[in-house]
Amino acid sequence: MSPLRRPLVAANWKMHLVRSEAELLARTVVAGAAAGGPEVVLFPSFPLLPAVAAVLAASEVGLGGQDLHAEAAGAHTGDVSGEQLVDAGCAWVLVGHSERRRDHAETNSVVAGKATAAFRAGLRPILCFGETAAERRQGEMEAVLLRQVEALLSPLAGRRAQEFALAYEPVWAIGTGDTARPDEVQEAHALVRRRLQQALGDAVAGEVRLLYGGSVKPENAADLAAEPDVDGFLVGGASLDAERFLAIMARSASLGGSAPRRRHP
Ligand code: PGA
Repeated sequence: MSPLRRPLVAANWKMHLVRSEAELLARTVVAGAAAGGPEVVLFPSFPLLPAVAAVLAASEVGLGGQDLHAEAAGAHTGDVSGEQLVDAGCAWVLVGHSERRRDHAETNSVVAGKATAAFRAGLRPILCFGETAAERRQGEMEAVLLRQVEALLSPLAGRRAQEFALAYEPVWAIGTGDTARPDEVQEAHALVRRRLQQALGDAVAGEVRLLYGGSVKPENAADLAAEPDVDGFLVGGASLDAERFLAIMARSASLGGSAPRRRHP
């Protein structure tokens, strides 16, 4: 964690919760979000967005959708556009989550199209990437990550660091309880930040937040966040439990000690 970057902690609720549960969880997160803490964003499933937006309205906690279609409108049954997410109160959107890549055959080029669509709609995407267990075993981790990031460079060209974030989510660590080690996470984040530096320049690469996701819990959050290139978390399972999620928020905020942090708009 660098003092340049305010920690960002995102809750990916996936296909969980009904409205009453989502409202209660959102209310608890709002009550626990301390001034000077990390930036916090909740990602409920689409039908829950209006109810959660109402809870978050007077707070600093942000709201995002879990996916978007590349087009603004059209004959795409079951899909949701970035423009519709903005209309529902979202400022953020997840793009390229491995569960979308796996369940909906989203390729790197589909993901790039969605990143472009997010910017067109005025949303801030959290762009997800990560290798599978087999790819890591075969020594392909670096090549896979660089290919996934490469596909994003064109949509990211000319963007300010505050307009997006990236999330390294090794597929083998998601929902498995098998968290990546802090040094493994740091290695992947440093690799990606170096590539961003070459492509987008020092200012953007130095200020953009690189999140880690994959079985983040209160017990491992502080160690992960102590790595210099870990700027926050994308939390799945543990974000469904208010107490555990608040503990992760608290451990992310304490990173970087008392160094002053520049707050992003
Ligand atoms: P997990 O999910 O925390 O349950 O591993 C992370 C994610 O998929 O974003």
